[in-house]
Amino acid sequence: MKRIFFMSLLCMALVLIIGSTAVIGAKPVLKVGTSADFPPFEFQDEKTGAYLGFDVDLIQAVGAAADMEVQIVNTAWDGLIPGLLTGNYDCIVSAMTITDERLKAVAFSDPYFSAGQVIVTRANDTSIQTVEDLEGKKISVQIGTTGDLAASDIQGATVKRFNLAPDAIQEVRNGSVPACIIDLAVAAEIAKEYDDIKFGEPFTMEYYGIAIRKNNTDLIKKINRALASVKASGEYDKIYANWFGAN
Ligand code: ARG
Repeated sequence: MKRIFFMSLLCMALVLIIGSTAVIGAKPVLKVGTSADFPPFEFQDEKTGAYLGFDVDLIQAVGAAADMEVQIVNTAWDGLIPGLLTGNYDCIVSAMTITDERLKAVAFSDPYFSAGQVIVTRANDTSIQTVEDLEGKKISVQIGTTGDLAASDIQGATVKRFNLAPDAIQEVRNGSVPACIIDLAVAAEIAKEYDDIKFGEPFTMEYYGIAIRKNNTDLIKKINRALASVKASGEYDKIYANWFGAN
């Protein structure tokens, strides 16, 4: 009887030990919200549906440096911050500009990319060069972006807001509006595909950051540490060169 008792105790101990090693072996998951409509930062492979882009590679590297497994959660752009606050994911990586308004709701990592807004017009349009030239005109933007903010500030302009960034650019191509305001690298990427549009010099200075809930101070520290190590190791430069050419 005693033997059976000790044997079963031993078995239970074994199950406990094996069970907890499995837990220790599994990496914690970092759930990342993104709006995959913004090439070359985040987009989906047309055939496989895989998430690709500069931001995707960067967060994979950051996740690896923090010893976490990255899981992408594709979410409509204007629902990203509400979804973060609800807890649908742990952070947002979506070419998101660090703004004072957003800082009221969320925290941001250290900046990881410098960007700016540009005006996209039809290639044969010579009437629009500067923001002043947009006064009283129709302008397409992605809803709730810094492009939307910039357009909304222009005297007498009518702002047409789209859920998806590429749709705002298509609006210029199909002749419905003379101009779209959008992030430089995205304009450049989409203009590669179509020779009927062009874009000007950036007229804002912005920095992208990784958004995290303000009370998640552990993760803010972890991500900043991981981001710094990805920069220091030269991995950041590799990812940058891969998407944008040499720095
Ligand atoms: N940088 C701009 C902003 O923060 C646009 C970002 C849009 N990102 C996206 N994945 N659609 O407002």
